This record gives sequence, structure tokens and C-alpha cells, in this order.
Amino acid sequence: MALLEVNDLHVRFNTDDGVVHAVRGVSFEVEQGKTLGIVGESGSGKSVATQTITGLTRGARIEGTAMFEGIDLLAATPEELRSVRGVKIGMIFQDPLTSLHPAYKVGWQIEEMIRAHQDEGRKKARARAVELLSLVGIPNAKTRVDDYPHQFSGGMRQRVMIAMAMALNPALLIADEPTTALDVTVQAQVLDVMRKVQEEFGTAIVLITHDLGVIAEMADDVIVMYAGRVMEKAPRRDLFYANHHPYTEGLLASLPQRNSSGGRLLPIKGSPPSMINPPQGCPFAPRCPYVFNRCVEETPALVPVFRREDHLSACFLSGHQAEREQGKEQMRVALLEEAQLESARLESAKLEGIA
Ligand SMILES: Nc1ncnc2c1ncn2[C@@H]1O[C@H](COP(=O)(O)OP(=O)(O)OP(=O)(O)O)[C@@H](O)[C@H]1O
Ligand code: SF4
Ligand SMILES: [Mg+2]
Repeated sequence: MALLEVNDLHVRFNTDDGVVHAVRGVSFEVEQGKTLGIVGESGSGKSVATQTITGLTRGARIEGTAMFEGIDLLAATPEELRSVRGVKIGMIFQDPLTSLHPAYKVGWQIEEMIRAHQDEGRKKARARAVELLSLVGIPNAKTRVDDYPHQFSGGMRQRVMIAMAMALNPALLIADEPTTALDVTVQAQVLDVMRKVQEEFGTAIVLITHDLGVIAEMADDVIVMYAGRVMEKAPRRDLFYANHHPYTEGLLASLPQRNSSGGRLLPIKGSPPSMINPPQGCPFAPRCPYVFNRCVEETPALVPVFRREDHLSACFLSGHQAEREQGKEQMRVALLEEAQLESARLESAKLEGIA
């Protein structure tokens, strides 16, 4: 059985502009000791989905279930949630200063965390804090344990945060863009630390990122989110080498090393739809090079590709390469016609101007 099993999660916010339907029927599982990567453009619902599971979204309407060690986290009492959040589920965010108190020494903060939940004396808790800090690669952990958060560099602070998240040996670690603010070298070091911690404790990780490079480094399985939905779910290898969703294809085409034209990025044209009254049909339709009539009338379900339960895609053309090419041709013809109409319109406007 999976460690975490999220089923048909919906999250809606009431705003002055209308109801924001941020997460629209998301399901996924996280296996013990494995890493699930969640990737997608900004606003796709990655953070809202995971924060909802840990009870961190306020003022939202929530539907669905999130089973973790026999408890449905979405129906849990505040006490039950407190016994899980930070204890059995550790969390790391992009900015460590949101979790570390600036006025207290980092070692003291880790010790307090341990002592609040385990019957440990101060001496033992301090020894554990030093042990955790050296595990995450803080040099001279014995002395640095008495430093304040601002005395650490960004990468080192992120390591401290990992140490703190691991203090109670959680079964699951949720890391939301843990390396986004760091430069590439430091990013690689922090990812190494996460891997080491996972090996040492057998922790499962949910890793949220907009960076497919990070996914390639870390994830066992991946879900690709777009407009509050899962577009594709696949083992990492399939995602990179045998993907089926046009959105995944678009994300991969924007990776520099994948691009044959000298490293130039090919970003996906257009932007994601508004989450207030999102349109019917496939949410990717306005940007999809393969779009055809059915896509704007009907929403494709997330279904197994070639009957493989571990590889799902929400596109009518998944597994139908020939039709996909046909769809692309239709799009090309439509764009050509549109361009011809536009140039005819401009031509007649010019003529009228002259007349
Ligand atoms: N408290 C809130 N009230 C209203 N709308 C919200 C709230 N929190 C998030 N949203 C909206 O929900 C959608 C999903 O947001 P979310 O933060 O999950 O995106 P994300 O995929 O994590 O993006 P990013 O990569 O930028 O972190 C966005 O449209 C966002 O504006
Ligand atoms: S369902 Fe249609 S619009 Fe959506 S991704 Fe597939 S081909 Fe593109
Ligand atoms: Mg986010």
C-alpha cells in the first residue's frame, strides 16, 4: 500500500473576482522511500495541492481524500493534523526563513522541535541536533549549532532546514521548490543532501519544482500538472523518453540541452488559463499544436496509455501518434488560413486608407 494516497482532490478559493478552482480532481500516490516529482508552470496548483494535504490552506473549499498511515488528512481533526504535520510529514520550502526563527540559534530550534514531540533531555536533543547538522553537511556542526540563521549562506540555511525537517524522522518529506533560489552548484549540493537523507532514513519525498532538470536528478515517478489537473503521470524514464502528453513535450522542448538549435529555449507559446471559470474541454487546447475539434468540447480523462497502470495521460491523442501528426497538420493549416485572412484584412485596410 502507498504511504500517501491522494484521491480526486479539489480546492476552491472564494475571491472578489470569483471562485478560483486551483486544484481540479488531482490524484496521486507516494510509495515508501520513493520520490514523487511534481512539475508544472507557475500557477498550476502544485503548492496548493500539497499544502492542502498538510492542512496549510486557509479559507478554501476542499473535496477528496488523502490517506496517510490510515488517516484521511482532509477529514482529520486539528489534533490529528498536529500529530502528523512536522512530525510524520516534514516540510521544506523555497525560503528557509519562513521556517527558521531569526532570533534563535539553529541548534536550539532543532532541539526544541525534538523535545516538543519526544521525551528527550536537553543534552540528548542537542547531540541529535549536532548529528543532524553534520549529516546535512554543515562543517564544524558542533560550533555552528550555536549560530543564528542569518549567519548561514542560502545553501547552508537550506541544509539546516532539511536537518530540522528530518529531526523527528518523518516518513514523508514535502519539498516545495527547495532549490529554486540557489545557484546551480549549491542546488546540486542540496539535492545530494536530500538523497543522502533519503538513503539514511528511507524517507519518501514529494518534490515540487518547475525545473525538469531537478526531476531528472531526483524523481522515481513524476506527475505533470497544468491548470489544476494532472496531465501526465509516469515513471521518470518514460517521462523523458516516452512521454505522451503534448504539454510534457512542450516542457521538454524548453530544456536547453534537449534543443538542437544551439541551446536556445523554445518556451511554450501563450499562457495558462485563468482558474476562475476555467474553460470546458482540454485546458491545454489554446496552446496545443495538435488541438482538434473534440479537444474544446470534451475534457480528456487521465487514463492509462497502452494499458499501463503506471503511465497515464490526459490527451485524446495519447498512444495515437498518427492522429497526433494529423492534429498538428490541422493546426498548421488553420494558422496559415488565419495569417492569410489577417494579411488580406490589412491589405484592404491599407487600400481604404489610400482611397
Ligand atoms: N489563498 C488563495 N486565494 C486565492 N487563490 C489562490 C490562493 N492560493 C493560491 N491561489 C491560486 O491557485 C492557483 C494555484 O496556485 P499554486 O500556488 O498552487 O501554484 P504553483 O503551481 O505552486 O505555482 P508556482 O510555481 O508559482 O509556485 C493560482 O492560480 C493561485 O493564484
Ligand atoms: S486533448 Fe487535444 S488539446 Fe489537449 S493536449 Fe491532447 S491534442 Fe492537445
Ligand atoms: Mg508553488
